Amino acid sequence: MTTTHTRDAAGVGAAGRARIAARTLRGDRWWLTPLAYGLTLLIVVIYLTYAVFANKDYYWEPYISPMYSPCLPGNCVAGSGWGWFPSISPVTPALIIIIFPAGLRATCYYYRKAYYRSFFLSPPACAVPEPAKHYHGEARFPLIVQNVHRYFFYITLIFNAILTYDAVISFRDHQGHWGHAGLGTLVLVINAVLLWAYNASCHSCRHAIGGRLRHFSKHPVRYWMWSQATRLNARHGQIAWASLVFVAFTDLYVRLVASGTMSDPRFF
Ligand code: FES
Repeated sequence: MTTTHTRDAAGVGAAGRARIAARTLRGDRWWLTPLAYGLTLLIVVIYLTYAVFANKDYYWEPYISPMYSPCLPGNCVAGSGWGWFPSISPVTPALIIIIFPAGLRATCYYYRKAYYRSFFLSPPACAVPEPAKHYHGEARFPLIVQNVHRYFFYITLIFNAILTYDAVISFRDHQGHWGHAGLGTLVLVINAVLLWAYNASCHSCRHAIGGRLRHFSKHPVRYWMWSQATRLNARHGQIAWASLVFVAFTDLYVRLVASGTMSDPRFF
């Protein structure tokens, strides 16, 4: 069902609402949070866009940037690729896979709130009316496309498994011997953990685990899993930021090591 309201007939303009001339009665610095979120998103997106198109310095055995894993085409740096199909110049390996994690983030309930507020001002904050005269919700094109979120959730579980594999094999040295670790190993492990936490705290995950049940009492295991997902879900916003910033940091770390700008401190 399509929901359309005009500000003259609904919301702050609805019948029975007080007529207040001021744009908002909030006296605090409500604009600070959307401004900070918008700037942070902008900086991270600009960096990740650079990383996607850089197409170099994403692999230093055994570390691979999460932006380039899995590296599917044949033009990946030696040792990093799966070679599933010929290289498609000028498409970079990162460009082929970015659609899935980017799709998950772009349709994420939390990021929707963040970028609707920061970039669309719809609304910019609680109790601050939006400038748009009409409100359509997400019930028609283009925002109805946000409903594909759950599919991105399922697909990115495969990416998490691959990045976990990357973290595990980072316990090897250049000769392939196990039992070694450097700072990059720690970075890759934290990155994988944060990405699993991001998916596990997703609203779609919570629904996949505990949704469409009539009686939790008949599904104690699913109830327990749903309870854990619910606890994580309450922290989804923080986990979303931490995992996004850490993906960029992980790419930067591998990039600096692979380009020879810094060396990888070895623990053992
Ligand atoms: Fe944020 Fe699903 S709601 S990843």
